[in-house]
Amino acid sequence: MQTTVDDVQAREARYILQTYRRAPITFVRGKGVRLYDADGGEYLDLLSGIGVASLGHAHPGLARAIADQAQTLLHTSNLFYHPLQGQLGEHLANLSGLPRTFFCNSGAEAVEACLKFARRYWYTRGERRPEIIALEKSFHGRTFGSLSVTADEHYRAPFVPLLSDVRFVPVNDPEALLSAVSRSTAAIIAEPVQGEGGVRPLTSAFAHAIGEACSKTGALLIADEVQSGLGRTGYPFYFAALGLRPDLVSVGKALGGGVPVGAALINEEVASTISFGDHGSTYGGNLLACRAALCVLDELVGGGLMAHVARVGRHVEQRLRAMAATHAIVKEVRGAGLMWGLELTRDAAPVVQAAVARRVIVNRTAETVVRLLPPLIITGAEADEGLDRLDAALGDVGDNA
Ligand SMILES: Cc1ncc(COP(=O)(O)O)c(C=O)c1O
Repeated sequence: MQTTVDDVQAREARYILQTYRRAPITFVRGKGVRLYDADGGEYLDLLSGIGVASLGHAHPGLARAIADQAQTLLHTSNLFYHPLQGQLGEHLANLSGLPRTFFCNSGAEAVEACLKFARRYWYTRGERRPEIIALEKSFHGRTFGSLSVTADEHYRAPFVPLLSDVRFVPVNDPEALLSAVSRSTAAIIAEPVQGEGGVRPLTSAFAHAIGEACSKTGALLIADEVQSGLGRTGYPFYFAALGLRPDLVSVGKALGGGVPVGAALINEEVASTISFGDHGSTYGGNLLACRAALCVLDELVGGGLMAHVARVGRHVEQRLRAMAATHAIVKEVRGAGLMWGLELTRDAAPVVQAAVARRVIVNRTAETVVRLLPPLIITGAEADEGLDRLDAALGDVGDNA
């Protein structure tokens, strides 16, 4: 059946709730770090569907695992055992140091679960601790709980009232954090590298303050690693690079390599306060999701992908810093591993459009930031090809500014 791009767009305009402002491209196929549109046009993907396609597109091992699982058993619900949840939980425990996993289907659900488990912990202990401390510029998702700890007014305003007792403190301001956290604080929630907020790694002084605030007051720490976790920064989790010891960690995005799967990772102290029926999910941790995630983690750890990210990431960083020095519109380069943001002196949208015109996919976040989240399998040569195109796109916009 032949479907033109115009047909696709017309049908969406008629039948799909208009919550996304899409770029006018219809992708139909991918291979490795490349995407192909409906007219056969080839693009270099430096975004991985916002940090999801960690193994790139149409990865043969992942495709085989998914197909095999589909022909065996996809789903039975959490009323019964299946062999893969425990295996995946064990992998995640080894990677994170947090021994228990709750599976769900997205990043927002993982954050939601962490918030509920933090509440449950204090409820079990019989202490009234209503407050959550979150950071300015944070993004944790769009469900009511995760939106309540997301800072951006633009996302929040149409949906108030949200959870009460959430306080936002400026990111990387140790004093502000230390004075905000008290014995009424149930938990601090933070992205070790803020993603949607403009790719902002927490400083080590701020991470130190988080650790100090938690040990002084007993407040729990929730590290939201939905975007920064699972090898993205060259570490299993960026909290480890910062020397943080979270009680709860949310993961999603890269975990399934494109199959929707999220998880809350939980330490034993919090886990011991959770009872049967406290939380649940029909799909959470089904066989398909677990099989895909096991394949991703095998590549990440057994396949040496994490070391690869650290190596290629250093090269990407050098190139980005050299590029920034030649474009007056680039104010700052921030990130780690294969998670980078170029803070511009202006709106980033024209640069993103110019990049698309030059057949490289990046996106805009926090208005003035060009964000790069390439597939973790990207080679140095492929990164150079993409960065050459981005360099030219910066020139297209900057030279005409
Ligand atoms: C740090 C962080 N947490 C949570 C989420 C929400 O994840 P999802 O869109 O899978 O619900 C995102 C999504 O961008 C994120 O970056």
